[in-house]
Amino acid sequence: MNKILSIFICALISTSAYAQSDVNLGIIPTPVSIKKNNGNFVLDRTVVLSSTGTEGAKMSDLLNAFIVTKAGFALREVKDVPAKQKAIILTSVGADKLPAEGYTIRVTPNQIILTGKGAGLFYAVQSAMQMMPDKIADKITIPAVDINDYPRFNYRGTMLDVSRHFFPISFVKKYIDQLAYYKINTFHWHLTEDQGWRLEIKKYPKLTQVGSTRPGTIIGNYPGKGNYLTEVKGYYTQDEAKEIVKYAAEKYITVIPEIELPGHASAAIAAYPELSCFPDRDTFISDKTPWAGNKKEKLVQQTWGVFDDIFVPSENTFTFLENVLNEVIAIFPSKYIHIGGDEAPKTYWKESPFCQALMKEKGLKDEHELQSYFIQRIEKYLNGKGRSIIGWDEILEGGLAPNATVMSWRGEAGGIAAAQQNHDVIMTPGSMGLYIDHKQSNSPDEPVTIGGFAPYQKIYAYDPIPKVLTADQRKYVIGVQANLWTEYVKTPEKAENHAFPRLLALSEIAWSPVERKDLKNFSEDRLPRHLARLDKMNVNFWVPTPIGQSDKPLTGGDFTIDLKVPVSGGKIYYSLDGSRPSENAFLYTAPIKVTVPQGEKRLLRTIVIAPSGKRSVTTETLLNNGAPEEKTEAKK
Ligand code: ACM
Repeated sequence: MNKILSIFICALISTSAYAQSDVNLGIIPTPVSIKKNNGNFVLDRTVVLSSTGTEGAKMSDLLNAFIVTKAGFALREVKDVPAKQKAIILTSVGADKLPAEGYTIRVTPNQIILTGKGAGLFYAVQSAMQMMPDKIADKITIPAVDINDYPRFNYRGTMLDVSRHFFPISFVKKYIDQLAYYKINTFHWHLTEDQGWRLEIKKYPKLTQVGSTRPGTIIGNYPGKGNYLTEVKGYYTQDEAKEIVKYAAEKYITVIPEIELPGHASAAIAAYPELSCFPDRDTFISDKTPWAGNKKEKLVQQTWGVFDDIFVPSENTFTFLENVLNEVIAIFPSKYIHIGGDEAPKTYWKESPFCQALMKEKGLKDEHELQSYFIQRIEKYLNGKGRSIIGWDEILEGGLAPNATVMSWRGEAGGIAAAQQNHDVIMTPGSMGLYIDHKQSNSPDEPVTIGGFAPYQKIYAYDPIPKVLTADQRKYVIGVQANLWTEYVKTPEKAENHAFPRLLALSEIAWSPVERKDLKNFSEDRLPRHLARLDKMNVNFWVPTPIGQSDKPLTGGDFTIDLKVPVSGGKIYYSLDGSRPSENAFLYTAPIKVTVPQGEKRLLRTIVIAPSGKRSVTTETLLNNGAPEEKTEAKK
């Protein structure tokens, strides 16, 4: 093809891509407002870059590094911009009037001005990067717009469980990079569990010497069979944890550590049995953990679940926890420390003469009040150090600690109750799709997960502010979070598969105003382009199934199946004979016309293959023209 013609065609494709995404310029999360003006800013080698202060210089370096990868050249950085010189200007002038973390971007034919400070300027750069289309003949054409943007919620979080399986810091950093790009500002690091203690504590070396290793993986214990003997171990040194805190802070992400108490503490108890009500009692061994044999001792748990052996509320335990927390707060400067509080069975406390005597002495009427006493002591200690606690919604039982923030995971009820008591709330209900360990489609190709069904659309549909709250109570909902528990997630690749694209949906419900949400635009326009980017960055995202394909049976004789590829540059392949589709099946290029004779059925099976070769699960649609069901069995 001659060069001019090819440029012309590219220009047409590029224009039509923009025509579709006028409403948000392809940005995830969609900005609060975008006003289109006349003309374009053409980014070429003549453009200069200008900023003020050290923060501005850091941000302009970030933008320039991106321009190098996108355009193939770096912009000259200057202090003062001569009149009429085309420039990109980063400034904090006027940023004081913006909401927290807010920014503006003004694109005119002569200038792009990014205004913000701190996180705001950083987010302006993220949006600027996202709104740049591909270059054509060494030029990037950006439409003239005014963007005004700020977050709906201050707390935009995601939790990674590194205790059920351990993840190296290289992966944690790669994960944090993506969170920053999507304006998620909190990384909740679930560091301690029954199955592993993952943070070095210098005063208690056995926490990691003993507590960071278990001889078998949990994978396979439920629902099926498994490879019990694969050891799982690992922990972060304090220096490594500090490195993560620093790395995240440079991207305006706060790391909140979680130290679980009084339950989910088997790893700590295995290291220091005196933290148990019954130091001489053996760890409960599931009959599904054959390697444990007749071992008589406290063990790091091999299976997942909820265990009776929890911390005893003794002075020795409080001293231990205070010493641990002293080291934790020296590593993590976050306002919040997450203290767990979930799923603490009260069986041992009921059986323990010590606990019963303590309850009597303190006038506590039941074990829930004993848990409340436990949490309140820890809260008081942390408040005294200038920190606040977050706990899972069980901390409501027996009475909330005075200053606690509640993380509502068992549906929304805990969050609603806490907001009604004027306590801050973070919504993360598993029932609304925020448990991203759940599976993403109903295809039998999905890997084993813990259960549940949470496609990204379910997260997208969720509004974190419950309608039952009054206007006054709504302000206690400070944010929303998605949780990645890792009982069945053993590798970084699988963690990425669970997280993406669901964290992109989280980003939009956490940042964008409800009125700006648009699932069709998100799924069909922006997500495909963002997934193509993740594909290039070697992020092992879950490849969505073809847009427009029903996974429910369709009835009739004549069908026109109109599909869209959910990853830019990817392909859909399909079969109609029941065989498993691959690159050798039919390539989808236009709506598929299928005629099914009366009394018969056909099975449409599709697969999506991303440019890197990553595959979707197989999706099936039964096309039925009145045939009896048993005839249509797919060949596996
Ligand atoms: C939880 O899922 N146990 C907080």
